[in-house]
Amino acid sequence: MTTPRRLVVLGSTGSIGRQTLDVVAARPDQFQVAGLAARGSWRLVVEQALRFGPEVVALEDPTAARQAGEALAGAGRRDITVLAGGEAATRVAEWPGADTVLAAMLGRSGLEPALAALGLRRRLALANKESLVVGGHLVMAKCRETGAELLPVDSEHSAAFQLLNGVPRGQVRTLVLTASGGPFRGWTAERLRGVTPEMAVAHPTWHMGAKISVDSATLMNKGLEVIEASWLFGLPLDRIEVAVHPESLVHAAVTLTDGALIAHLAPRDMRIPIALALTWPERQSWPWGNLSLSNGNTERLTFVKPDMQAFPCLGLAYEAARAGGTMPAVLSAADEVAVEAFLGGRIPFTGIPEVIERTMTGHAPTVEPTLEEVDGVDRWARARAAEIVEILGR
Ligand SMILES: NC(=O)c1ccc[n+]([C@@H]2O[C@H](COP(=O)([O-])OP(=O)(O)OC[C@H]3O[C@@H](n4cnc5c(N)ncnc54)[C@H](OP(=O)(O)O)[C@@H]3O)[C@@H](O)[C@H]2O)c1
Repeated sequence: MTTPRRLVVLGSTGSIGRQTLDVVAARPDQFQVAGLAARGSWRLVVEQALRFGPEVVALEDPTAARQAGEALAGAGRRDITVLAGGEAATRVAEWPGADTVLAAMLGRSGLEPALAALGLRRRLALANKESLVVGGHLVMAKCRETGAELLPVDSEHSAAFQLLNGVPRGQVRTLVLTASGGPFRGWTAERLRGVTPEMAVAHPTWHMGAKISVDSATLMNKGLEVIEASWLFGLPLDRIEVAVHPESLVHAAVTLTDGALIAHLAPRDMRIPIALALTWPERQSWPWGNLSLSNGNTERLTFVKPDMQAFPCLGLAYEAARAGGTMPAVLSAADEVAVEAFLGGRIPFTGIPEVIERTMTGHAPTVEPTLEEVDGVDRWARARAAEIVEILGR
């Protein structure tokens, strides 16, 4: 019998975190949960801790951490360490004895824990694409330095990882990432003005957290994924394309120099790429569905070019990636602020790209920034984006 993986789940109360724990629950002999981290959802963390028995849980919000500590003590689990504060998730990523860290926190907050896990040569199963967008060169340098494994969890990147495995990059013409197109596929810029937060979070094919749902609706999610793919697979931006594929069954494709195109198809179920990132290079059989070419589900697969005019966020992401250095960090920070403002009813849906573009315009990127420089730029971009939100909201 193989030794179980000792797993840390960062963002355990979110969509990816909960699905990761589904994978763990399906194979209790193969995984032990060493640690859990979230921001403020203490009730769910406590429920997860009582079920999976980690050694440590972390909540960024100190009040939530105190409530979790009291609830665990009340349930007779004083042995579970409870950490609080901004660095608590990083301490969980470094928890002694853990060997695998699944990173599914939100936004910029995932970068330090990812670097900490890689620094200790732990396998990093990465869902948090923003850490690569914001600090891609730092993350990749840490992988090279320690030899740690970085396995993508995003369905498109998991597909690309499988397609590109063992293929010399010189034989790859393009990597194609697919996008569902979100709930507003085919809408004009005019019609998009009336989009409400409720409409934007109702994604047609995937059930995800609010931030990534809005990012999918603006196509920013795909833009962040292009940057993520460029770092993960060492491909230049002009060889990474996006195709809108509403059925969301083909997750990525590669076109090769001999004219062939190889595509990766899988059911729309994030537990499949999550499980693969945890068990790679093994492929196991799981209790959730399979894809068949004969049951009618794959009868109609359509692919169209994205509408870059109605959805300017995708173009902004390419622009930020081409500018390089700290510009993708500005893109990502401005997007976080703009999405939050949209969800709070302070700016319209079409204000999101406006906030991002205007924030980017005011920034001259620094090449190969240090973590401190990334932090400084992140703070500047958030403050600048908040000012623009204020102006747009008047
Ligand atoms: N959902 C998907 O299908 C999907 C697919 C591919 C990639 N991703 C990526 O995976 C990441 C998570 O997405 P999601 O949809 O799972 O998001 P989500 O449902 O909103 O969950 C976010 C999780 O992160 C935690 N969190 C947020 N800020 C934190 C902080 N500062 N410290 C510690 N924990 C923090 C949240 O805790 P609380 O509950 O306490 O707030 C929650 O557990 C994102 O980067 C997203 O782009 C998601």
